Formats: sequence, C-alpha cells, structure tokens
Amino acid sequence: MVSEATIESILQEKRLFDPPAEFSQQAHIKSQAEYEQLFERAKADPEKFWAELAEQELDWFQPWDTVLDWQPPFAQWFVNGKINISYNCLDRHLTTWRRNKAALIWEGEPGDSRTLTYAQLHREVCQAANVLKQLGVKKGDVVGIYMPMIPEAAIAMLACARIGAPHTVVFGGFSAEALRDRLVDGKAKLVITADGGWRKDAIVPLKEQVDKAIANEAAPSVENVLVVRRTAQEIAMQSGRDHWWHECLKQASADCPAEPMDSEDMLFILYTSGSTGKPKGVVHTTGGYNLYTHITTKWVFDLRDTDVYWCTADVGWITGHSYIVYGPLSNGATTLMYEGAPRPSNPGCFWDVIEKYGVTVFYTAPTAIRAFIKMGDQLPKARNLSSLRLLGTVGEPINPESWVWYQQVIGGGRCPVVDTWWQTETGGHMITPLPGAVPTKPGSATRPFPGILADVVDLEGNAVEDNQGGYLAVRYPWPGMMRTVFGDPDRFRRTYWEHIPPKDGKYVYFAGDGARKDKEGYFWIMGRVDDVINVAGHRLGTMEIESALVSHPAVAEAAVVGKPDEVKGSDVVAFVTLEGTYTPSDDLIKELKKHVSQEIGAIARPGEIRFSDALPKTRSGKIMRRLLRSLAAGEEVTGDTSTLEDMGVLDKLRQGG
Ligand code: WTA
Repeated sequence: MVSEATIESILQEKRLFDPPAEFSQQAHIKSQAEYEQLFERAKADPEKFWAELAEQELDWFQPWDTVLDWQPPFAQWFVNGKINISYNCLDRHLTTWRRNKAALIWEGEPGDSRTLTYAQLHREVCQAANVLKQLGVKKGDVVGIYMPMIPEAAIAMLACARIGAPHTVVFGGFSAEALRDRLVDGKAKLVITADGGWRKDAIVPLKEQVDKAIANEAAPSVENVLVVRRTAQEIAMQSGRDHWWHECLKQASADCPAEPMDSEDMLFILYTSGSTGKPKGVVHTTGGYNLYTHITTKWVFDLRDTDVYWCTADVGWITGHSYIVYGPLSNGATTLMYEGAPRPSNPGCFWDVIEKYGVTVFYTAPTAIRAFIKMGDQLPKARNLSSLRLLGTVGEPINPESWVWYQQVIGGGRCPVVDTWWQTETGGHMITPLPGAVPTKPGSATRPFPGILADVVDLEGNAVEDNQGGYLAVRYPWPGMMRTVFGDPDRFRRTYWEHIPPKDGKYVYFAGDGARKDKEGYFWIMGRVDDVINVAGHRLGTMEIESALVSHPAVAEAAVVGKPDEVKGSDVVAFVTLEGTYTPSDDLIKELKKHVSQEIGAIARPGEIRFSDALPKTRSGKIMRRLLRSLAAGEEVTGDTSTLEDMGVLDKLRQGG
C-alpha cells in the first residue's frame, strides 16, 4: 500500500537517470532506440518475436507446430514442442566451457559455504531425480518442497523438473497448517524437507512441521518424506515413510536423462494469496516459462558470463523460482544463494556476502532497502562494494528517496537500478527498465518488457488518460503467464480475465494493482486495489488472516486491513469483536497474534489488534473496509458514511474500541 505522502512525492518526481554510457556500450540492449525497435517489432507480431527467441535461446527436443493457441483466457505456447527446463539449465552447458563454471554459490547463515559447478550440480540433480523415481514419483506426480535456503532446495526443484514431476515449493516460514493446505490441494505424493534451517540465529524445525502437517492422514496423498540433513539436530524419522536424502543419494546413479516434456506440461504450482478464499495454486508450464524467465533474466539483469548474480529472495516465492533458479541457470550464469537474513548479530551480512564473492548484480526488495537506510550508511560504507554493476528491486513499490539512496550508497552512483514490476501469475518481469537502454525515474518501474502490452485502464477496459489513476492491465498473452488456477479454471477466468469484462472477444488481464502512466509512457505502480496486503513484499489475503482469527474461540468477527508502514510498506491491522465471555486484554492480543502465526506463519502476524464492540457495516451487512483503513492509518474518516448502519460504531472505533 502506498501512503499519501509517497503518492505526493511520486507525483512530483522529475529526476531522470540515463544509463551510464560505459554500461550501455556493453549491454545486450544498448540504446533506447534499440528498445523501441524491439518493442515495436514484438507488438506488431508477438508470435514471431517469441518464436525467434525460443529458437535462438533454448534447446528443444522437438520443435513446436503452433506458437500460440489462444482460447481466451486459456493460452498454450509452443504447442507440441518438446523441451525440459532442467536440460536447458544444466545439460546444455556441460558441452561448453561452462561445464566447470560455478553454477551455484551458496553461503549458509552460520558461515559455511559451498560452490557447485555446472557438472557437479548436474550430477546431484540426476541423482536426486533417480531417488525420486525409486520412491515411486512418476511424471505428473506433484512433489512438495519445504526447505531452507540451501543448495538442495534448487537441486530438488531441478530434479522434479527433470522427471516431469511438478513441484510445489512452500516457503519455510509457513506454518504446518498452511503447508498441509497446500499439500492437500496439490495432492502431493512426496515431500522434500530438511531437519531444520537457520533463520536469524535460530533453527527453524522444518521436519517437525512436516510431521504435524501430514500426521493422522491429514494429507493422505503423501507417501514419502525425503529429509536433507542441515542442522544435525535430533529429529524423529518414521521408518518406511521418512528417508535421509544423503543416504539415498549416495546409492543413486548419476545417470538420468531429462524427460522430454510437452511444452504445456505443468512445471510447478505455487500458491499465492488473493482477495477471496484460500490461497490459489498458480500453475506454470514448461516451454513458455522457460523462455520468459530466460530472456527477462538475460536482458533485465544484462547477464554476462563474468557476473556473480545474487537475488536475496527465498526459493519459496516466485522471485526465487524465476530469478534464483530457472532464469539464471538457463543462461549459464553463476547464481548465489544465501541462507541468512540481516539480524542483530550481523546487520551488515548482505554487504559481507557482496564483498566476499564479488557480487556484480544484486536484486532485493524495497523493504530491505528501507531497513538498511534506517541502520545507517556506515554498514555498507565499511565494505568494499565496488564489484556491483547493476541493482534491482522487486515486490512492492519503492519510494523515490529509497531508490536514490540505493543508487547512491549501494551502487556508488555508477549502477543502473531496475525496478521490476511483476507477479507470481506473470512468471517473470513485466514492467521494468532494460538497464542499458531505458532512462530511469526513481519510483517508476518504467516501461513494459518487449512483447508485453501493458496499459492503465478503467473497469470497462478503456485506457485512461495520461497521469490518471487506473488499473494495471495486460492486453495480450505472453509466454510466462500462468495457465490456470490448479483445479479451478473457473476461478482463473473470473479473477484475472473477467474482472474487466471482455469486449468483442478481446480479453484483458487484470493484475490487481493500481497504476498511472505518464506522458513518456512510464508506469508508476500504486499498490494493490483488492484485499491483498503487501507486507514487506509478501502477499497476504485479508480474508486468510480473518479466517485464522475467527478460528480462535475468543473471536466472533474480524476485519483485517493494511496500514502504511515506513519500513514494511504496510502492516496488518486487525479489528476484532469478541465472543460474549471474553474481555479485551494485552494477553489476549498476544495470544491472537500467536494464533495467526500458527495458522499461517509469522509473516501474517498482525502488527496491531484492536478490539471493538461491533464492526462498521453497511445496511446490507458488508464490512466497510475503507473506513477501517482510514482508522488504522490514523487519518480523518472522510467520504460517504451514510450507508453505515450504526454511526455510534465509528466513534467507538475511533476511541480505540
Ligand atoms: C507488488 C512478486 C510495485 C504488486 C514478484 C504485485 C510491485 C505483487 C512490484 C505481486 C514493483 C511487485 N513495484 N509493486 N516493482 N513488484 N509488486 O505475486 O502489488 O509475490 O501485484 O510477486 O507485488 O506479488 P508476488
């Protein structure tokens, strides 16, 4: 959510940063003219544009016969083409000098580290793939991955892709309940996890959570659990069901040819929050996703063979899928993976990692940048960050002042900044500068990637005028787009393609974000327009948190809204009415916060809980969230309150209930 103050500063933003000449000269896309040309070419004939790239950039076992089959809102890309993304990420590099190049550099939180060359990574992926096969996983079977940020997380994903078993990675910070929901929805046959992972100097008991999630046949599809030893703490292993990864791999053959997959075979499901109901399983398929992550990684991060590329996301999110694992490896790049996070014992750890490995391209979230600003310049200034040549951000709007700080203090004024707008649903970057070509404006994600027909529209799908607020939309399919909601194609249709009613057979993709476009065609993303709250770059559905709250016996009714937060972008505020016998207390607040953490995960824990006798509702019984948002933000409640059923409620809420 973007605060009023940020919108003010964004509207007044006039600064323009040209790509540094020495950067442009060596870039893949070297000038604005080249970008415009690509953009126009792609717009004139998108299928031709994508087909040429698919042929040049990827290895196919069998060519496609149709580039795009578009039966709105269902798209198929590279129809009947045969391909394997694990092959494109590994095997094809082995016949080149890259065979012994570092594919994955890993730094553990306690300071341990590991580097795998392409040959080594390929070997372990093949072994892991054979282990999956031995445990009965077949093409089409879903595998759950619930892992810390260790190389085995990437190995597990690539092993699944290799044999055609779609993975569903669940962020290690999610609770046992959230994990269970996802394993049940995806009908996962096997789960890959670890005995634990390091997070801010403590051990996250991942295996214990898996045990809880699948206990008592709660996720009946799960037959086996594969456990990586990471922390060496004592854990329970259930004989017959649980297997140690290292023991299985030791015995597994390293020969496992990549399965030729249909271009449209499912590669993975990734659950994400929406405005209604349970998190939805976003489905991505093989060929289109491979091409889209490959080409966006190449052009947006301007990758070269000498780069050490680091994205600080977790593999549990789409950013980790597309821009730690698949995009970089498909390009034969060196991708760095870090288990840790800035923490009191080492707030400067990110800068240590950059210095230690000579990171050249660094990709992180605005929340992290704002937290660094608060910590002061001395931490980054005490390290040598001169290896950096390009910086990126993702996940939430970045306020211009943070952008400029990032560019100046971290980038030393010499690195272009790419502010990349995209979503789990889009698979890869959609609106983003190409760093050698597009001049940047702090706070703007700038212009669409070639081939992306983005626009700002009203609810009828008509383009709004320059600088007018509207809804961010995309007018034509692209290879990286989600294909459906797992098990619920109707929800896919309603949520994304019919929110703006199709006209004359033309469908418009509704992103759920508000945006403006300025006279130069630059996009300024204003944040979610639905009931999704973006907390520290993580997507949370208000309804999910409300359901978690009302599952506690004390809670009669709950309404959750976002409130602007200086560091996290927004924070979760819950308005709660209690069941008859319960009374408000600090202890109950603590208990309810803990309850939400247990139900969903610590990321959803409300920053604030306010009790009240009643929630403001319209006469038809709808909770008036707009009012609650204003109250949570401490703003004057303005606008129409005439539909409010009981005006007294408002006064009580204002007084803190
Ligand atoms: C927000 C993360 C502004 C947006 C890749 C979007 C952004 C949601 C940006 C998707 C950006 C992402 N500027 N907002 N550069 N990038 N967002 O699915 O609200 O976790 O809809 O994907 O994050 O979040 P998701």
